[in-house]
Amino acid sequence: HKIELELEAIEKGGFDHFMLKEIFEQPRSIADSMRGRVQADAGHLQLGGLRDYLDKLAKSKRIVIIGCGTSWHAGLVAEYIFEELARIPVEVEYASEFRYRNPIIKEGDIVIAISQSGETADTLAAIELAKSKGATIFGVCNVVGSSIARATDAGAYTHAGPEIGVASTKAFTAQVTVLTLMALAAAKRKGTISDSLFRQLLAELESVPAKVERVLQAADKIKEIAYIFTYARNFIYLGRGLNFPVALEGALKLKEISYIHAEGYPAAEMKHGPIALIDEDMPVVVIATKDSSYEKVVSNIQEVKARKGRVIAITTEGDTHLPGMVDFTIEIPKVHDVLMPLISVVPLQLLAYDIAVMRGRNVDQPRNLAKSVTVE
Ligand code: G6P
Repeated sequence: HKIELELEAIEKGGFDHFMLKEIFEQPRSIADSMRGRVQADAGHLQLGGLRDYLDKLAKSKRIVIIGCGTSWHAGLVAEYIFEELARIPVEVEYASEFRYRNPIIKEGDIVIAISQSGETADTLAAIELAKSKGATIFGVCNVVGSSIARATDAGAYTHAGPEIGVASTKAFTAQVTVLTLMALAAAKRKGTISDSLFRQLLAELESVPAKVERVLQAADKIKEIAYIFTYARNFIYLGRGLNFPVALEGALKLKEISYIHAEGYPAAEMKHGPIALIDEDMPVVVIATKDSSYEKVVSNIQEVKARKGRVIAITTEGDTHLPGMVDFTIEIPKVHDVLMPLISVVPLQLLAYDIAVMRGRNVDQPRNLAKSVTVE
């Protein structure tokens, strides 16, 4: 038993939990997910597993993305990116819903299945259904040789390395990275992206690992904020645009491992319901980075503050306006809007982790949850 414990400590590489180790691994795992695929200075992007299917992807009239849990959130991020860059209509569906409808799939439709484990039963069943209706299936999996990877026609591995913590962290950022590469490749082939934007995004992608590293340096500050909110009973997470799925993911992380009730919402939708919940006992995490929806998010924050909600804002470095308006800020580096989720999700992962640890939860193996759900 002692040897087992020592082995586990070695595997955790000096971190208290696998989840924390995996959060801190992200500068490397994001780089790994791009390795051999991106060469920004040469304007070069290549996804080996997609080569024979890139035309089909670029010409597709519609993409349907399926997944569960965190992988579904990566799909929501990808929806924005594919539509923005490649101008292909995208729908994102929970695999468990897709498989029990009579989904409209036409030949020429592309289905992208996202799965860390590659073993999720609902996702696998959804793939088989889509296949039987003539769709071409792309996979974005982490586990090499997994059932889902084998069931797909083409795809790209995320190469994030083994993820042990039940709450997915580095797999999510790797999924988003790979999906961004897929969207960029499709956009380039289709001609919907300018050469300069293509090159700029490749260069910015290469800068993401160092920027994530900078976010990780704020870990102590995030811990202090977590301490203050350890005993909150509810949380709301708000974001707009690409940061809306990040709000969902932040809320999911918190509920999974700390068992605090948390809801993610598109910031503007708050007025249609969640605003009724806001009072001085309601912490609201707002992703308020300097992007195209910044001004709108700022007015959403004012609505929360007017009702005495306590706001933790994720802000862009150098934002001098928000610190005077909100209760706490966590600064993150600036990056192109399209790549923001890769950076903005990181402080939310740390916040959830710290709160769960302070509440004495079993972070790596939360109650009732499994790392891969191979039964329905
Ligand atoms: C489980 C895990 C989640 C994961 C989801 C989908 O619920 O606890 O962390 O996001 O399954 O798993 P997959 O392996 O298909 O990405």
